[in-house]
Order: sequence, then structure tokens, then C-alpha cells
Amino acid sequence: VLDWFGMLWDFKWDYLSGAKITVLLSLFSVLAGFILGVVIVLVRMSGFKPLKWLTTAYIELVRGTPLLVQIFIIYFGLTEFGIEFSPFMAGVVAVSINSSAYLSEIFRAGIQAIDRGQAEAARSLGMSKAMTLRHIVLPQAFRNVLPAIGNEFVTIIKETSIVSFIGITDIMFQTEVIRSKTYTALGPLMGAAMMYFILTFTLSKAVATLERKLSSHD
Ligand code: ARG
Repeated sequence: VLDWFGMLWDFKWDYLSGAKITVLLSLFSVLAGFILGVVIVLVRMSGFKPLKWLTTAYIELVRGTPLLVQIFIIYFGLTEFGIEFSPFMAGVVAVSINSSAYLSEIFRAGIQAIDRGQAEAARSLGMSKAMTLRHIVLPQAFRNVLPAIGNEFVTIIKETSIVSFIGITDIMFQTEVIRSKTYTALGPLMGAAMMYFILTFTLSKAVATLERKLSSHD
């Protein structure tokens, strides 16, 4: 009954096919969320009031509502406008939007952490505002927030377990399949926990290594 590793082994192909979907979905979502997050933080810090208000509202709304509701809105809700996604696409869109809000706040903290003197020095050397941002502020901010982006990736791996609700065949979905095949719950779920843990533990170790490399570079 307590042979959890045996369960993991017996259904390794189901777990692995689920892990592939979990990793792909998380990867695509963090990438798209990254791009969207950069756009949002630049718009937000542009100093143009209406746009600043709009991006702030976006961030607050996305962070203030459950990911599950957002996924359902994208997958079931948007069909009323004739927008129909496959489950996987709906998952990528919803998780990307969700992650972009969290990432843009990470970026904002990273940008604000760069000493004002850096920008002032660049400006006094005759660089334009855009050049200062592009060549002085953003590269330093990016390097500082790299570990935080890695952590967001770890978070998203765990948070995507919720997409099994719309039928994406991720780790959690496969676990439910195994649960109904074996008429047992604890074994399959422990298998799922081990799969997620292997992914997140490996990743956070990689992030910690990267963090050490970056700080020894200074
Ligand atoms: N569990 C949270 C929710 O249901 C999602 C948090 C997502 N976090 C993140 N860093 N993207 O809303």
C-alpha cells in the first residue's frame, strides 16, 4: 500500500508525458509573461498618467483574482465572443497573463533598485533618456532580477497544476487518470508530488547556482 516509488515507477510514462506538458506550458508562459511584463513595466514607468493608471489596474486585477477564474474566463468565457482556444493554448494565454503581472512587479523593483546616480551620470554624459534606459539601467536591472525570474518559473510549475481542470494533460491530469485506473489515491498523488518536487528542486538549485555566479561577478 505504501509503495509510492513503485507507483511512480509503474506509471513512469504517464508521469513523464504529464511532466513534458507541465514544463512546456510553464516555459511558454514564463517567456510570454516575460515579454508582456517588460512592456507593462515600461509603459507603467513612462510617466504618461492614463497609461500608468491602466497598467496599474491590470496588475491589481490580475493579482487580485484567482488563476483558476482567469483560466476559466479564457477557456470557457471567451467563447461568447467566438474566441475558442485549445485547452493548451488557453492555458498558455491565461498563465502568461497571470505571470506577466507578477513579473512586471519584479521588474519594477529591479529598475527602482538601480541607483539614481547611474542614470544621472549617463544623462550628464549626453545620453538620451531612451539610451540611458536601454544601455545603463535595464541591463543592470535585468541581471539583478534574473534569480527572481527563475523563482517565478518554479512558482508557475506548481501553479500550472490547476490547468488540469480544463483538460490539459499535465502531471496533475495524468495523476487523476492513474487514480481512476488503480482505484487508489495516495500512491498516485505521492507520485505527482515527487514529480513536481523533482522539477522545482532541480530548478531552484539551478537558480541558486546562477545567483552565486552573478554575485561573484561583481
Ligand atoms: N495561486 C494564485 C492564484 O490562484 C496564483 C499565483 C500565481 N503566482 C505567480 N507568481 N504567477 O491566484
